[in-house]
Amino acid sequence: MPAPVPAIATLPRLLQPWTLAGGATLRNRIAMSPMCQGRAHDGLADDYHLVHYGARALGGIGLAIVEATAVHPDGRIGDGDLGLWDDRHIAPLARVAGFLRAHGATAGIQIGHAGRKANSAQRIAPSALPFALGDPAPRALAAGELPAVVEWFAAAARRAAAAGFQVVEVHAAHGYLLHQFLSPLSNRRDDAHGGDRDGRMRLPLAVVAAVRAALPPAVSVFVRISATDWVAGGWELDDAVAFSRAAAALGAELIDVSSGGSVPKAEIPVRPGYQVPFAAEIRRQAGIATGAVGRIAEPGMAERIVVEGLADLVLLGTPLLREPAWAQRAARDLELANPLPAR
Ligand SMILES: Cc1cc2nc3c(=O)[nH]c(=O)nc-3n(C[C@H](O)[C@H](O)[C@H](O)COP(=O)(O)O)c2cc1C
Repeated sequence: MPAPVPAIATLPRLLQPWTLAGGATLRNRIAMSPMCQGRAHDGLADDYHLVHYGARALGGIGLAIVEATAVHPDGRIGDGDLGLWDDRHIAPLARVAGFLRAHGATAGIQIGHAGRKANSAQRIAPSALPFALGDPAPRALAAGELPAVVEWFAAAARRAAAAGFQVVEVHAAHGYLLHQFLSPLSNRRDDAHGGDRDGRMRLPLAVVAAVRAALPPAVSVFVRISATDWVAGGWELDDAVAFSRAAAALGAELIDVSSGGSVPKAEIPVRPGYQVPFAAEIRRQAGIATGAVGRIAEPGMAERIVVEGLADLVLLGTPLLREPAWAQRAARDLELANPLPAR
């Protein structure tokens, strides 16, 4: 009789799989953070995107979140952003999603609108306030236009699912359109979509609800937020907790916790892991899974984040640009630091 195979009790937590509510299983807790590449033409993915994301899938990540993908052509941060505002965008993105899935990575994509930070003459925003002094003022959206904005996001989500993505992340961070509604620094409306926190959260939450409703149950909804504007009188952690709780009630499965972006002059104390405490507080107070991101480059730090229950997922940006096989190296480093018991 062969001896029973011992349980691999020491498999690092960062390398343990995680099954999302819809059924997709991430092979580990390492995700590629969404990063605009500026390489698309007319919003269309091509070989560049296939190779760029494909290389990180081959390098062992559990989840790739494809860069901010515009829900409307005037919502692009730059002309080279990917788009999902038209059915033409589905097939080229399906190649990317298909490759990711075929090589063991869960396929995710971020959808967004840059609002007053868009590279367009037709900038829209909650209020006619420019991002930086001297920028042309954006056009304040009329209340009657807001259902169309919600529908842009829902339609983009539907196309993302048609392309085979298993996670759709709503971009409500970094001072883009949805964050512009959340933050009192950019939202000075006096109608139902401004004023107090509930008013400012109304449009972003309507987007989360519409995106959830537009997707089949097998596709999970993540939301990226800025946990703070890093400015007195701006959006703060308490607000982020309230928003996360409401988003969870609407079916969002994970809050991807970033920060900043509302105003050009914020003093941000950037240092390794500087946003992790926000992910931990939101996870604890709002009772929803979180992703930690920002200056997490060492496998040991990433492992501690999940072991200590500070976040469920660790997202990496620049480390994965520098080193596509970061996840494979992390696995080796962590296993060496934590050798399996001798048999
Ligand atoms: C080139 C580049 C493009 C980025 N584009 C996006 C984006 O499309 N959406 C987003 O939410 N964050 C974007 N970010 C922020 C990253 O996702 C990440 O949050 C940030 O780089 C901090 O993580 P890191 O220290 O691991 O790089 C971008 C960052 C970089 C460096």
